[in-house]
Amino acid sequence: MSNQLFKKVLVCGGAGFIGSNFVHHLHGAYPDCQIYNLDMLTYSGNKKNLSDLDGSGRYEFIHGDIGDKNLLSSLFNTHRFDAVVNFAAESHVDRSLHSSYHFIQSNVVGTHTLIEAARQHAVPRFIQISTDEVYGDIRDGESDENTPLNPSSPYSSSKAAADLLIKSYIKSYKLPAVIVRGSNNFGPYQYPEKLIPLVISNLLEGKKIPVHGNGLHTRSWLYVQDFCHAIDAVLCRGKLGEIYNVSGVPKTNLEVLEEISKNLNLTTSWQESVVHTNDRPGADLRYAPNSGKIMREMGWRPLWRFEDGMKSTVQWYLTNREWWTQIKNTPAFLEHYEKQYKAQYF
Ligand code: NAD
Ligand code: TYD
Repeated sequence: MSNQLFKKVLVCGGAGFIGSNFVHHLHGAYPDCQIYNLDMLTYSGNKKNLSDLDGSGRYEFIHGDIGDKNLLSSLFNTHRFDAVVNFAAESHVDRSLHSSYHFIQSNVVGTHTLIEAARQHAVPRFIQISTDEVYGDIRDGESDENTPLNPSSPYSSSKAAADLLIKSYIKSYKLPAVIVRGSNNFGPYQYPEKLIPLVISNLLEGKKIPVHGNGLHTRSWLYVQDFCHAIDAVLCRGKLGEIYNVSGVPKTNLEVLEEISKNLNLTTSWQESVVHTNDRPGADLRYAPNSGKIMREMGWRPLWRFEDGMKSTVQWYLTNREWWTQIKNTPAFLEHYEKQYKAQYF
C-alpha cells in the first residue's frame, strides 16, 4: 500500500466497473480519505455497485456529467479536491461502431471540460484512465509508452484524443496530470456486454456464446484489483506529466473461454455453445502493452495469477446472479445485444 497523500479525491465515473472497484479500494485502504464520485449513470453506471458504502461518512455520490462546466465549477469551488481520477467514459468498442456521438461527447468533450476545470481550479493532481487500445493493433513485439498512437475504433480514437488533449495541457499549462493506460480488465461489477461477463452469464443461462471471427485475437488480461493497485501507486507516486502502461497476461479469446469453463460445472463442452460471428470492422487482433516502466519506477507487480483472477470472477458472477440478470433484462442491454450478437455493424 502506498503512502496516502490525498484526503479529498474526486473520482469521475466511479459507478462503472473499474471505477467502483477503485472507490472500494480507496475507501478500504485509506481511512482518512474523503471520496466524491461524480457519475452520469449511463447504461453502464450502477449505484448498486457501491451500495455497501451508503451511510459511510467518507463517500458521497454526485449525479452529473463531466461535460457540465457549471456543475464542475461549483464542485471544485466547494470541495477543493486534492486529486481527480477520471474513469468516466463510454467504454464499449461494439457500441462505438454502431454510434460514436456519445463517445466523442463524453470521452473527448467531457475530458476537455474536466481538465479545463482542473486547470482553472489548480487541482494538484489529475489522473486520466486510458487504455492500451490507443496503440492499435500490435502484430509484433510490444507497445511501450512511446509507441505511436494508432487507434482503430471510434472508442479507441476518442480515448487517444483525450490523451492528446491532456498531453497538450501538460505542455502548455503545466497541468499536473498523469495518464495510466490499462489493458483489458476483468473482475466483479463488469457490465455483461464485455467478453468475460457475457460468456460467464450466457453459459449460466444456457445461451450461445458469440465468438468474433476465429477467436484468436489476443488481449492482455488484467485482474481489476491489480489495476486498482497500479492506479493507487500512480496517484500517490506517479511522476507528473508521465504515461504508465499497466498490463496483464496475454490470452486469446478462445483460451479465455476455456479458462472460464474450467470454473463452471457445465454438462456439455463450452465449444458446443460457440457461435462464430463476423469480426468487428477494423478489429484489433493483438494488444501487447509493456508495463516495464511502472514496475521499474514504482515497484508495481500484478498479485493475481490469471487463473486465480478468473476463479474469483466466476465465483462473483455465480454469487451475484441477480445483479447481472437485472442488467441483462434492461432495454439498454437487450437492444444493443441484439445487434452485438448478430455482429451487424452497419
Ligand atoms: P464502464 O462503462 O463500466 O463505466 C463507465 C462509467 O462512466 C459509468 O459509470 C458511466 O455512468 C460513467 N460515465 C460515462 N460518461 C460519463 C460522463 N459524461 N460523465 C460522468 N460519468 C460518465 O467502463 P469501465 O470498463 O469501468 O472503464 C472505465 C475507464 O477505464 C474508461 O475510461 C475506459 O476507457 C478505461 N479502461 C477500461 C478498460 C477495461 O478493460 N474495461 C481497460 C483500460 C481502460
Ligand atoms: P471486449 O470485452 O469487448 O474488449 P475489447 O474489444 O475492448 O478488447 O472484447 C474482447 C475480445 O473479445 C475482442 O477480441 C472481441 C471479442 N468478443 C467476442 O468474440 N464476442 C463477444 O461477444 C464480445 C463482447 C467480444
